[in-house]
Amino acid sequence: MNNFEFYSPAHLVFGKGVENRVGEMLVGKCKKVLLHFGGGSVKRSGLYDRITASLEKAGIAYCVQGGVVPNPRLSLVYEGIDLCKKEGVDLILAVGGGSVIDSAKAIAMGVCYDGDVWDMYQTGKAIEKALPVVTVLTIPAAGSEASGDTVITNEEKQLKYGYGSNHLRPLMSFMNPELFYTLPENQVANGIADMMSHVFERYFTNTTHVELTDRLCEATLKTIMHNAHKVLDNPENYEAWCEIGFAGTVAHNGLVGCGRDQDWGCHNMEHELSAIYDVAHGAGLAVLTPAWMKYVYKDNIPMFVQFATQVMGVEGSFRQPEDIILEGIEKLRMFFLSIGQPATLSEMGIEEKDFELMAKKCTGAAFGAEHPVGGLKKLYWQDVLNIYKLANE
Ligand code: NZQ
Ligand code: ZN
Repeated sequence: MNNFEFYSPAHLVFGKGVENRVGEMLVGKCKKVLLHFGGGSVKRSGLYDRITASLEKAGIAYCVQGGVVPNPRLSLVYEGIDLCKKEGVDLILAVGGGSVIDSAKAIAMGVCYDGDVWDMYQTGKAIEKALPVVTVLTIPAAGSEASGDTVITNEEKQLKYGYGSNHLRPLMSFMNPELFYTLPENQVANGIADMMSHVFERYFTNTTHVELTDRLCEATLKTIMHNAHKVLDNPENYEAWCEIGFAGTVAHNGLVGCGRDQDWGCHNMEHELSAIYDVAHGAGLAVLTPAWMKYVYKDNIPMFVQFATQVMGVEGSFRQPEDIILEGIEKLRMFFLSIGQPATLSEMGIEEKDFELMAKKCTGAAFGAEHPVGGLKKLYWQDVLNIYKLANE
């Protein structure tokens, strides 16, 4: 096990009706709030009205900025920073999914920074502070309600970059699983694929003697898969949503990655798809992950046998390890198809002519400085290209 630090300060408030407590729990923590949200789902569901009523009842002043789109845009972040400065906002309340929360985090650090907030995404420069961010989660997926990460799309440059800092970990996150009832099926499937990938990125490692986190990863993955069809078959299955919602937070708050080298190859490869084609992050991961597994498994056969047997339930101790692994990967692929994910990149509208450009952007080769991605196996641009091709078969 590697040395590690675990810091996950977000105060999680979980269960039915918790969004009505937002106002009272912000008393004494801020003077003026920016209520940040997305397209329209929060208004259609009545959540927006409940949040504003809760703020008003508690006497919390607020201004509003909606319009965050999936794969949140840098241009809206700039507008949010200007608005916060003009209005004297000192806390951002993000009501929505990963895109809204990530946009809120970008604004939170941009308000406290004199230069262009894109600098952080571009260079990884450390920040010293950010406004506090509080979230009300409406889709279990990205894990941004507890993570220190933000992912923003620079639409002008067609770049989608992530940035992480402990200063960006939310102060509080409210999760009422009833709010997930209105999610369209494709967003449910995207969320499931994304949270599973957050575990995979930590689970697949060459670090040994990490039994506790191995078991935590496996339990999280099995819980997600066990409840996925329950929520798809009955979108008002509260108990199943509780399991999925909690698992989504655990998948990405850092716990299951403690003491392990992590991978993140699939996430890096997916961000290139979203940057050019504006596809859903989870859908891209569902297509890329089985292809990545097929490409890298020979580098750590025992790890992939463990995955196939402990997570995917493959049996047969007298069989060849490779047969066990390939069956495990195929079972995962079939699971993603069963929840409605696409099978290939071309099914998502991604054209083969762009594979090489995306592969070169992914490793930096397109910008003259190549840094391989991935941990279990280092991937150079030719490897990424091969994986894109495998994900199209
Ligand atoms: O905009 P509205 O109208 O609210 O609609 C949203 C949006 O269209 C809709 N939605 C959300 N809650 C709903 C709902 N519709 C009906 N009922 C509800 N309760 O769902 C759509 C997708 O929302 P989005 O926020 O984009 O989804 P998600 O949470 O999957 O976030 C994806 C973004 O998070 C980033 C991804 O790259 C992507 O940009 N990630 C952020 C991470 C982090 N900060 O730690 C880690 C992840 O790996 C990921 O990269
Ligand atoms: Zn993700």
